[in-house]
Amino acid sequence: MQTQSEARVPELNPAQRAELAPLYERVRDVIPEVEWAVHAPYIAEIERLKRERNAVILAHNYQTPEIYYGIADITGDSLGLAREAAKTDAGVIVQCGVHFMAETSKILCPEKTVLIPDMDAGCSLAESITAADIRLLRERYPGVPVVTYVNTSAEVKAESDICCTSSNAVDIVESLNSERVIFLPDQYLGKWVASQTDVELILWQGACEVHERFTGDELRRYREQHPGVHILAHPECPPDVLEEADFTGSTSGLIKHLSQSDARQVVMITECSMSDNVAVEFPNIDFVRPCNLCPHMKRITLPKVLESLRTLSPRVEVDPAIARQARRAVERMLEVA
Ligand code: 13P
Ligand code: SF4
Repeated sequence: MQTQSEARVPELNPAQRAELAPLYERVRDVIPEVEWAVHAPYIAEIERLKRERNAVILAHNYQTPEIYYGIADITGDSLGLAREAAKTDAGVIVQCGVHFMAETSKILCPEKTVLIPDMDAGCSLAESITAADIRLLRERYPGVPVVTYVNTSAEVKAESDICCTSSNAVDIVESLNSERVIFLPDQYLGKWVASQTDVELILWQGACEVHERFTGDELRRYREQHPGVHILAHPECPPDVLEEADFTGSTSGLIKHLSQSDARQVVMITECSMSDNVAVEFPNIDFVRPCNLCPHMKRITLPKVLESLRTLSPRVEVDPAIARQARRAVERMLEVA
């Protein structure tokens, strides 16, 4: 793995130092000064190259604060990033997230250069199912529509009727007007959707390696240790966790919920960087921070983003025939959502 010292950056000049000072004031509670001294030259150089390359940086809510606040043009959940990718005028999209997110951008913008700073930034959900699995399911359940979570490969999307994200899954399932729906691949998101609708769901056994590790007991301990704490959880968590939570939603849904709540102490049952990023926006909330890292999201670093912009690689490519089929499923979701 590349380290910060491997990608060389020019020293900050006084003008750049002054320009970055207000940004550091904003994030100083979540980025120690000694780390900022390492990040700041990368941020300045990435900003310069971004303009030169006519590039836009999309960053998922799980990216580290120096990426989320330092270099991202657009931040959001999977749905928000897909929507923004579809709208952008930039010629180059740098996806600070995982591979399926970059593939979704490429599917929606086949003519653009889509970069992912580390090709190995995968996802346990995307790995859990193949296009052949879907063909078998269709044979077993003829005529039953297939909804796939966007956390899947382009090949899997291409075999699907429609995609969904965690923020629109219930609406998408209900939009099909079918009594039964095959819902793939996250069994826990599937169980949560099933609890919110009368549609019968046929599920797969996939799981997110980050969220499946949380337990209901753990949440009960937080309540004992922090009486009155408000617990928010992502729907990729197991059912006993969601039963214990006060609110369940997509990453952006959790942020929106906080902006409408008067909670003073909060625990976010999701990936580590979420609490850091959200703490900057809500300085009056005390965040209890359980930490389950997504190792794939954490592959994206400032030096890798810089290298990616310098070399315009690694590029995400999708076979045009597969992209066409997959686009149908993603665009259908965007229409419904
Ligand atoms: P969101 O769509 O809620 O951002 O979730 C994406 C993801 O990978 C969660 O683990
Ligand atoms: Fe995939 Fe889970 Fe990481 Fe999200 S947090 S990218 S679902 S492994």
